[in-house]
Amino acid sequence: MEEETLYATSNPLYGGSLGKNINCWRSLSTCTAKLQESSVAKLQGIQSSQRRLLGSSAYELHRNDSFSKLSLEDIDYFKKILGEKSVIQDEDVLSTANVDWMRKYKGSSQLLLKPRNTNEVSKILKYCNSRYLAVVPQGGNTGLVGGSVPVFDEVIVSTSSMNNIIGFDNVSGILVCEAGCILEKLDSFLAEKGFMMPLDLGAKGSCQIGGNVSTNAGGLRFVRYGSLRGNVLGLEVVLPNGTIVDMLGTLRKDNTGYDLKQLFIGSEGSLGIITKVSILTPLRLSSINLAFLACNDYLSCQKLLLEAKTKLGEVLSAFEFLDCESMELVLSYLDGVRNPLPPSNFYVLIETTGSNESHDKEKLESFFLHSMERGILSDGVMAQDMNQASSFWQIREGIAEALMKAGAVYKYDLSLPIENLYKIVEEMRKRLGESAKVLGYGHLGDGNLHLNISTPVYDDTVFELIEPFVYEWTSKHRGSISAEHGLGLMKANEIHYSKSSEAVHLMASIKGLFDPNGIMNPYKFLPRSLLSQHKEDASLHGPEI
Ligand code: FAD
Ligand code: MLT
Ligand code: ZN
Repeated sequence: MEEETLYATSNPLYGGSLGKNINCWRSLSTCTAKLQESSVAKLQGIQSSQRRLLGSSAYELHRNDSFSKLSLEDIDYFKKILGEKSVIQDEDVLSTANVDWMRKYKGSSQLLLKPRNTNEVSKILKYCNSRYLAVVPQGGNTGLVGGSVPVFDEVIVSTSSMNNIIGFDNVSGILVCEAGCILEKLDSFLAEKGFMMPLDLGAKGSCQIGGNVSTNAGGLRFVRYGSLRGNVLGLEVVLPNGTIVDMLGTLRKDNTGYDLKQLFIGSEGSLGIITKVSILTPLRLSSINLAFLACNDYLSCQKLLLEAKTKLGEVLSAFEFLDCESMELVLSYLDGVRNPLPPSNFYVLIETTGSNESHDKEKLESFFLHSMERGILSDGVMAQDMNQASSFWQIREGIAEALMKAGAVYKYDLSLPIENLYKIVEEMRKRLGESAKVLGYGHLGDGNLHLNISTPVYDDTVFELIEPFVYEWTSKHRGSISAEHGLGLMKANEIHYSKSSEAVHLMASIKGLFDPNGIMNPYKFLPRSLLSQHKEDASLHGPEI
């Protein structure tokens, strides 16, 4: 530690440049998001009701019996249009696809379909719609809100076999690809051309671009490259009735009519299936530096953020934070991870990405000196090479995996005004006392807190102390109950904490327009009371848009 740690007085800020291709720092992503098949319990039969205590307030969830049950004729039809290999009934494969990454949400689907192109998706949806068969679209199955797995016996439509890159324009940086392309593979493809994906997250080795767009995923570089809502230029989607809608534009500017693709970005598979994506990618810059810093208190983290914005400006590419509880958990549960600094209350990861090595270093030096002099920073270390940078990122990105290993986890993903962002962690700690570990980490540069509560096993008493308190508190402080993970099954009934009744009803009307039979990802995303209402309305108006 000693020679890595930076003190204001010594100021050997940058022992060495990290050089090019820094993207290969982080390999954790590939391994973290793989579900251990062996540990997935075998699913038995189709359940017709489930008692759920895991996400929103305790409720009994019933299968909507207006959906048909799968028949042998259905299977035969799918085999005819897709071929035997793409129609999967194998128990082991299904048991993996029925369970989410956290092993918290489990469905009992008997069928997984793997279309290879848009036409096959269209045939599947058209048939399911006419048969009233419920469908769950599945990408990499790394979602954290129970959106990507069936609740009961929905047919799983996986985009995994739709993974071709369609084109790349190396002047504009516009990439067009199929929805099943894995994020990390797209990034590697772009690296060869001198570009990068504008999105990066811990699950990048498994998550797919279609899933990313469907969740409007945020991630680690949001502070620099912004939302997918800005970077996605076009989409091709298949509606529940099988209609293929080509909105696969590759233009930066296009003001002709409603921007319909925006409805699909962040719609979590509730309106149709995204089959192709066109996305603007930034240049991959060569000068990348990473600092792992310590702050004594949350106020200093806030001051550091302001300082980073002021002093680092256009080169700032990540501003992440974690508290000491998160650090302790990672050190306890992940092999080979160590804290590069002496114990501290808070840690901040700052990454800069620019094109001028000496200019970037100068900026960082001045930032460090100033922060140290003002007492905002208590300690810090710069990554001296790629391995060290990778080890720093492993601490931050490994928290989700460490939480999984520690037992049960109650996961909240809140947007809050920066000033109040950590108060909820402190209040939750007081509320839960010794009964749980409360962790705070996340994308501080974006005002996004990941509040996680860890207990050895799921416990009703703990759960009742957490919800609805966490949502009420967030609403009272004008935050959002989902910054980036989405609503899924977990928060479908809680949307009103962040959106007005009028807005939610308008959303339900849009859902009813696109999906009158309600086959797309049922029980999720919008309050179940509104979804069933639209199902009844649909039977009056017929299935077509
Ligand atoms: P899935 O999990 O398969 O699906 C997610 C939702 O999208 C589901 O509702 C599904 O029905 C729907 N869907 C999937 N594909 C399609 C499609 N083609 N058309 C229509 N609907 C579709 N999220 C962040 O935002 N930021 C992070 O930093 C972040 N870090 C993570 C780190 C780890 C270790 C893990 C496990 C998850 C993380 N996530 C993060 C959550 C998750 O990775 C993202 O939500 C990701 O975008 C999901 O992609 P996926 O392909 O796995 O989608
Ligand atoms: C992260 O930022 O690490 C992810 O969103 C996953 C999580 O919230 O645990
Ligand atoms: Zn996150």
